[in-house]
Amino acid sequence: MYVCLCRGITESDVREAGRAGCVMPCQLKAKFGLKQSGSCGRCAKNIHELVELAVQGASASTVER
Ligand code: FES
Repeated sequence: MYVCLCRGITESDVREAGRAGCVMPCQLKAKFGLKQSGSCGRCAKNIHELVELAVQGASASTVER
């Protein structure tokens, strides 16, 4: 499912970023370009939702090891 239509970001993209250690709001904003022109900014305002997905991804990678 898409979590950001402006940048075409899916839930799995965010979980994968979390697995790579990208779980902080500023890291996610930078990685996915949420503050670049052409982005509506809705995702940046609701960044906690992306953080939750990233943390889920990071947790899943810990469990798989
Ligand atoms: S929907 Fe993500 S920046 Fe617009």
